[in-house]
This record gives sequence, C-alpha cells and structure tokens, in this order.
Amino acid sequence: MKNASSGFRSLITFTLVWIALGLLSACNTNTRMSTFDTKGPVAQTQYELFMVTVWVTAFIFVVVGAVFLWVTIKFRETKHDTRPLPAQGHGNPLVEVGLIGASILLLVIVAVPTVQAIWYTHDIPNSAESALGQWYPGEELTQADTDDILTIRVEGYQWWWAFDYPQFGVTSANEMILPAGKVIRLELRSKDVIHSFWLPRIAGKVDLIPGRANQMWIQAGDSFQAWQEAHGATSDDETLRAAYAQYLEDEIYNYYYGQCAEYCGDSHARMLFRATVVSDADFATWISEMKQGHDAPEGLSWEQWYAINAEEPGTLSGDIHEGLQLFMTRGKCATCHAVNGNPRALGIAGPNLTKLASRHSIAAGWLNHRAADGSIDLEQQYKNFYKWIKEPDIVKPGNLMWKANGGGIGELDTPLSDEEIRKISLYLQTLK
Ligand code: CUA
Repeated sequence: MKNASSGFRSLITFTLVWIALGLLSACNTNTRMSTFDTKGPVAQTQYELFMVTVWVTAFIFVVVGAVFLWVTIKFRETKHDTRPLPAQGHGNPLVEVGLIGASILLLVIVAVPTVQAIWYTHDIPNSAESALGQWYPGEELTQADTDDILTIRVEGYQWWWAFDYPQFGVTSANEMILPAGKVIRLELRSKDVIHSFWLPRIAGKVDLIPGRANQMWIQAGDSFQAWQEAHGATSDDETLRAAYAQYLEDEIYNYYYGQCAEYCGDSHARMLFRATVVSDADFATWISEMKQGHDAPEGLSWEQWYAINAEEPGTLSGDIHEGLQLFMTRGKCATCHAVNGNPRALGIAGPNLTKLASRHSIAAGWLNHRAADGSIDLEQQYKNFYKWIKEPDIVKPGNLMWKANGGGIGELDTPLSDEEIRKISLYLQTLK
C-alpha cells in the first residue's frame, strides 16, 4: 500500500516537472517565430500594444485576487461562529459607481493604444527613402514604379505561398526576399480558402480572403531615419551611415519563419514560409537572377534542346537531360510549374520553381536543407526533393501535386519509378 502511494506521488511529481519544463521551454524568445524579439516597426508596435494589455490584465488579476484572498481569510466561518453577516456592498453607490468607473478607465487605457496601433499598421508610410528609385538600381522600372515603394503580392494556396513582385515581373514561392529597412506594401489574396499571413518577428496577421485583396505593410529592421532618431543622432555623415549598415548587418540580415495563421485544411500546420532579409545589392542580384531564369543543360539554348528532344531524344543522355525530359513529359511537372527561361515550363497551378535549388527549404518551408553555416546541404536537398516527389501525400496530406482531378503524380497510370525520381531530383538540383 505504502509503495503504491509513493509510486503515485512520484508519478505526479514527474508529470508536474515535465509540465513545468514544457512551459519554460516556451520562454525562449529568440526563435525565428518569436513575437517577443521583434525585427521591425510593425511587429514592435504590436508587441508594445500586447504588453499594455498584459500589464492591465496583470493589474486586474493581482487586485481582484488580493481582495478575494483577503475576504476569504478574514470572513471565513470558524467553529461556533456567532458573528452576524458583515455589511453587504450590493446597491452601495460608491462601490457600484467605483467599479464601473474603474472598468471604463482600464478599457480606455487599453483602447487608446489599440486605436493608435490600428491606424499605424493600416497606414502605409509614404517614406521617400523607401521609394524604389532610391535604392534599386534597375533601369527597367517605369517612372511610377521608381517613385513607389516595393509591392509584393502574396497569394495563398492550399498549402503554399506565391510571392509575386509585380514591379519586376518576378514570382517566387515559399521564400520571400525582403530588402532590409524598406517599407514594403503587401497585397494579400487567396486562390482557394482563407489563409492568414503571419511573419511573427516582422508583422502579422492579416487574412488572405478569396475574392478580395487585403493590404498591409511590413518593414524588416528600422529605416535609416528611424534608426537615427532612436540613437539621438541628426547628422547624415558617413560614420553614421556606416554604423547603420553595421546594425543591419548584425541584427537584421537573416531569415525568419512565417506561418499560415488561419486553419485552412489538412496541411494548414505545414503551410510555412521563409523570409530572407538582405541588403539592397543582394536584392537587386536576386531579382536579376530570377528574371534571367535558367538555360537548358550543358549550355544549350532552349530552341536547340527542344529541337534535339523532338528529333533524337536518345542523344540527350545523362541524368540531367533525362531528368528534364521527365520533368517536361512523363512527370507532367511543367503542366503546373514554371521555370523562368524555359519557354515551355509555364504552369501556374503550382509554385514557380525558378532558382528552386537556391532555396533553403521546399514544401512550403517544411523540408529543410539549410546547413548550420547557412549554406545549402546538397545531400539533404537531394533527399528532400526525392522524398517530396516520391510521397508528397505523406509530406503534405491532401495536396494537389499528388491528386488533382487526374493531373497529380499519384494518378499516373504507371507511377514514377525510383530511378526516374532520382533523375528529376538531380535535374531540380541544377536550378540554382
Ligand atoms: Cu493556409 Cu492555414
């Protein structure tokens, strides 16, 4: 009997320790999805508003809890208690009016910063230093684009993200590239059901609703002006510019995780994305590489490649050529996926695969192949491509690449063989 009860007690202790550890593990504020360690003015505003409500509710909790404890102890019934009932406060004007007044005051304390924050996050700042022409060297922009800020169209799909940069004619998927310190306008749309854009350390959350465009603005890191003001500096000399550049380098250039924040079906939890924050120069390089896209393997032009493929497909031997052939024909990949440069890979139902091999993850952030030093782990990348093509329905249950009204690879009359999947994966690894 004694043994049983001590066993029970240690089970309870064990459980409590694990619950406590579980709760404590949530205290790490330095994660890629933390709302506590913010990296931009929108998330910072949201954080400050959150803290106001935390303090107000903590105050209510402490005061009400203290009064409750005090009356419980002071007026609890003792043995043979003969005291009469204490005076009742019900209907006492001072108590009633006092409580109503205090409640209103507390609500106002929360409401004022709430309304301020709503205005702030809804008003896209008209910031001169964020105008494209101020920092993006591209000559192909129209005058209107030069004067405007960067716009990214975010489109939600079950279960991945398209990031369209309309001013440049560039579309990416699941990894958005953001220039540091610039105001960016997001246009949020959905192609199927309601999703929600949430990039915790930079901004959130706004819903993507079918049939309507929502808007928000984001900014990764402070602008030069805001940073100057925060440091009490007013001059614009080179030392200060260098210090600002150092701040971006040390604190802002990085990658952050986003997550769909509205339940949207089977694989909602696996609808992540990455935002990589880069310098203006790196952003310009990325745009130009995305526009350029990819050549056919071995330096062939696409015209040559398609001509040879039509006449003597057998001469295009080797894993890469064969992988591309499978990509274009038997695997039907190009029906749904586009690869910039390739004039016949123009699908829009699935993610654009331009520079796919330069992304650090696939399957909307779910299969990761980023090495610890920030480079791409090629072995893991190959495994991820292979796994994804082999069993996308396991990686992301319910997704359309597997079953899509007869168009999915899970619906092929003869499924792709392991050898074919290997070749397609090797071809995909050349898209960098
Ligand atoms: Cu998309 Cu949840």
